[in-house]
Parts: sequence; C-alpha cells; structure tokens
Amino acid sequence: MIYLDNAATTFPKPVSVHNAVVNALRRYGANPGRSGHAMSLQAAEEVYRCRSEIASFFHAPGAECIAFMPNCTHAVNTVLKGLLKPGDHVVTSCLEHNAVTRPLQKLTQHGVTFTEAQVVPGDNDATLNAFRKALNAKTKLIACTHASNVWGVRLPVGRIAVLGKEYGIPTMVDAAQSGGVVPIDLQEDPIDYLCLAGHKSLYGPMGTGVLIATAGGKELDTLIEGGTGTNSISYLQPDMMPDRFESGTPNMPGIAGLRAGLGFVRQKGVERIARHEFALIQRLYGRLSTMPQVILYMPKPDPRYFVPLLSFNIKGKGSEEVARRLNALGFAVRAGLHCAPAAHKFCGTLETGAVRVCPSAFTTQWEIDAFANAVEKIKGI
Ligand code: ALA
Repeated sequence: MIYLDNAATTFPKPVSVHNAVVNALRRYGANPGRSGHAMSLQAAEEVYRCRSEIASFFHAPGAECIAFMPNCTHAVNTVLKGLLKPGDHVVTSCLEHNAVTRPLQKLTQHGVTFTEAQVVPGDNDATLNAFRKALNAKTKLIACTHASNVWGVRLPVGRIAVLGKEYGIPTMVDAAQSGGVVPIDLQEDPIDYLCLAGHKSLYGPMGTGVLIATAGGKELDTLIEGGTGTNSISYLQPDMMPDRFESGTPNMPGIAGLRAGLGFVRQKGVERIARHEFALIQRLYGRLSTMPQVILYMPKPDPRYFVPLLSFNIKGKGSEEVARRLNALGFAVRAGLHCAPAAHKFCGTLETGAVRVCPSAFTTQWEIDAFANAVEKIKGI
C-alpha cells in the first residue's frame, strides 16, 4: 500500500516513536503524577520532558502553558466553550474544519454569533482585510485554521493575531494541519491559543492533542473537571495550567511517542521536511495538470501560501469512486468532504467532495510518480 493519506494521520511513524511507546509501557508504565514511587515519577518526568520540548519547539513562554488533550478537536472546544459567553461574536474563516464550525454552531444556541471571513488564496493582504472587516464591537475571539485540511491554503495567522492585538481580541489557531510542517514561533506571532494534533506532522501517535495557552489559561472555563494528582484535598478544579485542563489519567505512552515524533521533526528540520513534501506535491501537480480530465482547484502550491497537500477530482467520476479505485490499485487517499464542508463550499465541491493527496517525510518521488500513473489509468476507465 502506498500511503498518501498523511493529512488524516501520518503513516508510518518513525521507528523511534514505536520504540518510545513500547518503552514507556514496558519500563515505566505507571500513572504519572499520581504516586510517589520511582516508576510514577519516571512516567511524570516523561510527560514533563514532552511538555517542555513542545514549549521550546513552538517558542511558548513555558512548559506550564502546554496542556495535553485527547486530540486537536478537544483543544479547540476547550478554547471556544471555555471563553465565549452569550452575546459574544467570533470571527472565523470560510475554510474551517468541523472541529471549529461545529462547536461554534453549537454555541449559537447559547447566544454566540460568528462571521466567516473570506480567505483569498495567495493574497494575504486581502485575507487580512476580510478578517478586519468581519470584526465588530462584540468580537471576543478570532478563531481560524492555520491551513485548510482540504486545499492546503495557509492563512496569515501571525498577521491575523497582530490584528487581534490591535483590537484587544485574542486569537485561537487550529494548527492541526501545519504543526511540524510550517514553522510556528509564538514569540514572533502573538497567538493566544495554539491547538495541535500530535499525530499528523509531529509524527506522534493518535490521542495526543495539545493546547498551548500563552497567557496561562486561567481565563478559560473548564470542559471537564476531575483528579489531577495535585491539591487533592480541594473539591475545586485547580486554576493553574496544565492541571486545569488535564483531569484524569493522561496518555503517557502516547505522550512519550509524541516526544519521539517531535525529536524526529527537530532532527530532520521543519524546513527540510516541508521542502521535501513540496517538491513531491509540486511534481504531482505538474503531472495532474497535464491531464485534461483532472480538475485542480488551486494554483500550484506555493510554500508561502500553502501546506504540501492537494485535492482534485476527475471529471464525470465521484471522488469516493476514484478513491475506491485507487485503493484497489494500492493507494491510500481520502475522498469526500474531509469533515470540512465549509472548505468544500468554498470551491463548489460540496456535492462531489474531492480526492486528497498528502505526502509525508517518508514519501518518495517513485511513489508520487506511481500515483500519477494510477490516476492516468483511472481517468481513462
Ligand atoms: N482532520 C483529518 C483529515 O483532514 C482527520 O483527514
């Protein structure tokens, strides 16, 4: 199987990630931060090391700003539902994943309103202007994706966060599709809440979401409360991060794997991985654009404005059917709506969906060429 569904989750994971998970389970699989025995302390140290390496990777103010979550969706929900009150308004984009649109829609039942700013791919000034125009006196949050999981379009989130600061409005960024493949520097970009998926371009296992709350998170109400292993005498949920958002036993083996994934990305370098993936996706774009039956919705992915993935259709064929045929030929891709109907509406593909291809650090040119040959074959059938 040639796996090109890395936007859904990266596969394979680096061997160091497998080893880290197995080691954690085998050697120090105790409950971190709950007991005083050596193995529990070792487990807690593993969690802390990952926390501090994430902080340094994204230039967050400190390890205490990092909360581990089941996934990126949970991190997004924590911010939206923890911050917004009846009467509040949110500016989001027209390219959001359901991780953002569904909680926002749910919040409309509680008097929250939102506006979708129109993104203009390749024109960051126009995109920024759309965000500015969408603000109003009730806007309490800007919440947007860093990169569309369907079209790869990158939003100028640093400039959007600066815009927010100009108006005293915090910014939340859903970086599920960019963390690990686009450099993110929270010292440079005043993003208040960064939500990450550990299992995509950070090469960790599933179940390793991350919320980075640069101001400490006290301003966010909690979605769940429970045992944190700290101040157990109190019936009250701790104020301090990360405990505030980490009730219940954490996914320690997953977190150990995430640390190894992060180590892999650090060692290779984000820029180098991105260059590799862009070379592949641009090569594929070149091949697909010579096939008249193939519809490409975006321009050739320019690293300044995109992340390395692309979605396409074959005229007269459903995206699911194309993905099925590709699967039969040994290629794994994702078709349909990718949990992002807003993004599909943007390109008029709400009815058809699209076929999405995303390489990883492990994808080779040979695999991409083989994929292009397979599309060539299918389009004629
Ligand atoms: N959000 C993931 C995707 O884009 C699962 O496929």
